Amino acid sequence: MDFDLADQVVIITGGSRGIGRAMALAFADAGAKVVVASRKQEGVDAVAAEIESHGGTALAVTTHVGQEEAVSALVERVVEVFGRVDVAINNAATNPHFGPILTATASLWDKILEVNLRGAFFLCQQVAPIMEKQGGGVIINVASTAGIRPSIGLGIYGVSKAGLIMLTKVLAVELGPSKIRVNAIAPGVIKTHFSRALWETEAIAQTVQAATPLGRLGEPEDIVGSALYLASPISSYVNGEVLLIDGGMSISGGIG
Ligand SMILES: NC(=O)c1ccc[n+]([C@@H]2O[C@H](COP(=O)([O-])OP(=O)(O)OC[C@H]3O[C@@H](n4cnc5c(N)ncnc54)[C@H](OP(=O)(O)O)[C@@H]3O)[C@@H](O)[C@H]2O)c1
Repeated sequence: MDFDLADQVVIITGGSRGIGRAMALAFADAGAKVVVASRKQEGVDAVAAEIESHGGTALAVTTHVGQEEAVSALVERVVEVFGRVDVAINNAATNPHFGPILTATASLWDKILEVNLRGAFFLCQQVAPIMEKQGGGVIINVASTAGIRPSIGLGIYGVSKAGLIMLTKVLAVELGPSKIRVNAIAPGVIKTHFSRALWETEAIAQTVQAATPLGRLGEPEDIVGSALYLASPISSYVNGEVLLIDGGMSISGGIG
């Protein structure tokens, strides 16, 4: 048993940047056919081209995960091109609100839940019957430590990620009999575009660093190993689990 994912078809939402891009490149290196999905054409094209320039196989698809019909179109396109789906990674997310949760408007609440939770639900709903027919599959949801323990200013985002963790567990139970394993990854602070406001603010970056036993913020590549592990047969008995990848910040008290 190893991390070989030869010819496995892997969908990665939010694959154009940050953690999603790092996973896309690593899955292609492990032999997978990688579907890079996000809203902007130039972003998905760039990552697909990078994979192909290294001899890998990629498909760039634009999608908005909050829109059910867009997610259906994504999955239809993948089946049309590759004929199957082995791994689906719900990684796309948004967070347009920072501050006390009660200061958020209804439209911000809806937007965050639409992309971070409903979007993942749609993709799971679309891929599960395909995986079931194939005899199994893997779903990985990228949650957050904010979905486990409240993080200051990230209230609705945290609620959406807590929901995603419960969605992971519910689906692990419901899809287990169909040999579909469903697990989540909960990253701490990882240096990407998404978390720029945190790590570019010197005082916050220093607080996070000081609260992290490993003494540094995370990089997108720090998340890749856990995704490869959960996607491959090496984790064949892992189901409904949440892997915290935060340099030990949570166990040492966190920053929230
Ligand atoms: N960075 C951190 O510190 C951190 C910590 C914990 C958890 N996470 C989680 O890790 C995941 C990846 O985040 P990241 O830090 O890598 O962020 P990122 O670099 O900003 O990338 C976000 C990706 O999501 C895509 N996206 C955004 N909205 C979308 C939508 N509605 N439909 C489809 N794609 C959409 C973006 O591309 P387009 O703009 O082209 O759509 C982009 O590819 C997220 O689930 C995030 O919550 C991140």
